[in-house]
Amino acid sequence: MDKLLIKGGHKLKGTVNISGFKNAAVALVPATILTEETCIIENLPNISDVKDLGDMLRNLGASVLQNQKDVMEIDTSNMKECFADFDSAKNLRASYYFLGAGLGRFKKAKVAYPGGCSIGSRPIDQHIKGFEALGAKVTVDHGVITVEAEKLVGADIYMDVVSVGATINIMLAAVMAEGTTVIDNAAKEPHIVDVANFLNCMGANVRGAGTDVIKIKGVSKLNGCRHAVIPDQIEAGTYMIAAAATKGNVLINNVIPKHLESITAKLREMDVDVIESDDSIRVSVTKPFKNVSIKTLVYPGFPTDLQQPMSSLLAIAEGTGIITETIFEGRFKHVAELNRMGANIRTEGRIAVIEGVKELMGAKVSATDLRAGAALIVAGLIAKGETQIDNMQYVYRGYHEIVEKLTELGAEIRSVK
Ligand code: EPZ
Repeated sequence: MDKLLIKGGHKLKGTVNISGFKNAAVALVPATILTEETCIIENLPNISDVKDLGDMLRNLGASVLQNQKDVMEIDTSNMKECFADFDSAKNLRASYYFLGAGLGRFKKAKVAYPGGCSIGSRPIDQHIKGFEALGAKVTVDHGVITVEAEKLVGADIYMDVVSVGATINIMLAAVMAEGTTVIDNAAKEPHIVDVANFLNCMGANVRGAGTDVIKIKGVSKLNGCRHAVIPDQIEAGTYMIAAAATKGNVLINNVIPKHLESITAKLREMDVDVIESDDSIRVSVTKPFKNVSIKTLVYPGFPTDLQQPMSSLLAIAEGTGIITETIFEGRFKHVAELNRMGANIRTEGRIAVIEGVKELMGAKVSATDLRAGAALIVAGLIAKGETQIDNMQYVYRGYHEIVEKLTELGAEIRSVK
């Protein structure tokens, strides 16, 4: 088990360069299955989820070269089928993208039920609804999902729930379907746009990504292409929160400020200084920050992936803060760990009530999921004394070189096996 030791009390200062977006990368790598030509994906984050997906492609006969750590050259022409077994699919939720991509290329795919952070039930009924609307037959047997179709025909699909994964998966399956597909009530996250741009670069015809209506005109074939992943707005938001919590002064570099508007607005509401430039954001603290209320919503609302790190900041803000988690029903597992560090947080269902305390105390705590781990790191950076965080493998799934980046910013932090 990987552990992390942090000695709190250091203000973060300096510049941090944000890496490619995990949640875009984990869709782009499987999307290369849709063409027999070579794709080059740049600005990939060096995280275990991307490595796992590369291995899954290799296991299916694809050639995946990673000469530099942030570039993958992928040739799936030798793939004969798309079957992601339990051992490979269990580690990450994004294995479900092999369904849409496999269906689009081979008209058949088999994927073991996807894994991923335990933050709620995480059904995939909307993915299945989309595949069936396109003419596929979907069966689930012994934990393996099989999708297959004689042919895929464009359809109008109204999403019952705004789902990032289902929106992307239906796009992957629909780009070479016969006729036009309309996805209504689609997710609008920046990575939906990034995947649509990648597909269009391959020769697809996807219009409207980033709005709640996406129109896809089927094409007969897709070509290889070169694409750079957009910056990770959740990684960037995490460093913005850490800079504020440690009362430091940090330049978060290589971001798209528009993608971070909800976090910027919330930090400013707390009297944190946030200055935007065209591709960077500076966060600093010149006066005590006050508590606020946060409600997680689909983009462009406050992202659910940042409510956990944010709770560590609110834990030491003056007054009472309220977090309402509207996306996932089980995303407060970090609260018990923060309370062991002296936080005063009570949860009731999807609501957390946070009474700001003067300071947190270092303790031995456990990461229960990726963003819970991020919350504990923020807490460890500001706690008095030493914090030991175990189960850090969750964090390394989604944060590129987080120990190196925080050390660079002046944190006293080291990982131990
Ligand atoms: C993606 O998960 C991200 N993961 C999550 O990030 C992120 O929290 C989430 O989107 C929301 O932004 C990846 O991209 C790999 P959803 P996903 O489908 O696609 C319900 C992180 O920390 N739903 O948008 O699983 C679902 O239960 C991870 O980086 C259905 O009901 O999220 C949830 O309540 C955690 N049926 C809501 O929709 C479905 O078929 C949003 O889920 C699908 C989803």
